[in-house]
Amino acid sequence: MNQITITGGQTIQGTIAASGAKNAVLPILAATIVGQGESHIKHVPHLHDVTTMNELLAQLGAKLTVDHHADITINTDTINNQTAPYETVKTMRASILALGPLVARYGRAKVSLPGGCQIGARPVDLHIKGLQAMGAKIEVQDGYILANCERLKGNRIMMEKVTVTGTENILIAATLAKGETLIENAAIEPEVVDLAKYLKAMGAEITGEGTSKIYVQGKDQLQGTTYSVMPDRIEIGTFLVAAAITGGSITINNSCNDDLDAVFAKLVEAGAEITTTADSVTLNMHGKRPTPVDIRTAPHPAFPTDMQAQFCALNAIADGTSHITETLFENRFMHVEELNRMGANIQVEGNQAMIKGVDTLSGAPVTATDLRASASLVLAGLAATGQTTVHDIHYIDRGYEAIEEKLNQLGAVIVRS
Ligand code: EPZ
Repeated sequence: MNQITITGGQTIQGTIAASGAKNAVLPILAATIVGQGESHIKHVPHLHDVTTMNELLAQLGAKLTVDHHADITINTDTINNQTAPYETVKTMRASILALGPLVARYGRAKVSLPGGCQIGARPVDLHIKGLQAMGAKIEVQDGYILANCERLKGNRIMMEKVTVTGTENILIAATLAKGETLIENAAIEPEVVDLAKYLKAMGAEITGEGTSKIYVQGKDQLQGTTYSVMPDRIEIGTFLVAAAITGGSITINNSCNDDLDAVFAKLVEAGAEITTTADSVTLNMHGKRPTPVDIRTAPHPAFPTDMQAQFCALNAIADGTSHITETLFENRFMHVEELNRMGANIQVEGNQAMIKGVDTLSGAPVTATDLRASASLVLAGLAATGQTTVHDIHYIDRGYEAIEEKLNQLGAVIVRS
């Protein structure tokens, strides 16, 4: 069951609801560590990465139950182990988000270095520097980060680079530090804001979230609470591209439109008609072939790197040439070789891809290399003639809830085997 076969040529049309955001629920689950008593986390997407985070929290000693909606009831008062082992961290880098909360609440943590992944080196030096600035004694040995601190002290922390999980790790830790913390050059991604909202619902004192300056007044303790996770803007963007690449139309309910300005703008530039209500978005491509669009990824609110691979697929069949520049990760074009095997005409030079649109792609056996690359191969398979089999599809299960079921509801013909 690690491959899916897509029969191309179907038009994607219909209505779906967005799931909860992977990149919001993962830091929020890590942040349950700093709250006393129970938290109920709702609108949780049913994803492999969420299962991995739940397993990590259980390994630490937390008590948690997952209901049939995948919503989670968790109590972290029973944590009796502050080690996030290599076996867990190597399967999911976001495990690094346990570091800050564990040091903040228990004064110590032993977290495996995540190491690199397919898309880049993915260092965590800025996570470590931020915690050191708050007084944590940190050593790195035998592949583990060992952190100790009686009680973290608030400080002014200037992030050398914009880092989403770096900002999140430090933000969570600061909520229990003594005194005030100012995080400068903080990430402003919507998922950071969602994390801050959860922390504030637990009693944290935070202002400036969503800007590059986040202020935190540390508290002695926080109380677990009920929180519903924001919608997944990358899932929404991916499904919008599914409709655009097949000339179809889609309505996505429970959408977070304010977080998708850059993606909407590029879809309109590609020829899509987009209309929105307070909590839904409708895209209609009116059967047209996409117009090529140039993309340059950058931190929010610019075009998100997590939508880059999907637009490579869209541009692959556009009526002209386009250029995509990836500025965040050093190796995030691995989907290109696989797209070229389907007849795309894409050249990569350094961090830029030049895409000469072709009339049609041809179905072929391809292999997923990372989460968003696998999504781009599925999108290409929808538009291609014939059958496309995507191998190693477990990557897509990390970030998309029941993707073939949702796409089949919209007219796709996809079989998992
Ligand atoms: C988060 O990763 C997301 N993951 C990624 O989504 C997303 O692509 C990325 O942010 C950028 O938006 C989660 O939120 C779980 P970064 P993160 O730290 O936080 C450098 C997906 O597909 N850096 O913002 O790990 C780093 O090398 C995933 O859902 C340091 O140099 O990314 C990169 O060049 C993929 N030192 C840049 O910052 C550090 O200590 C941005 O990375 C940390 C980061």
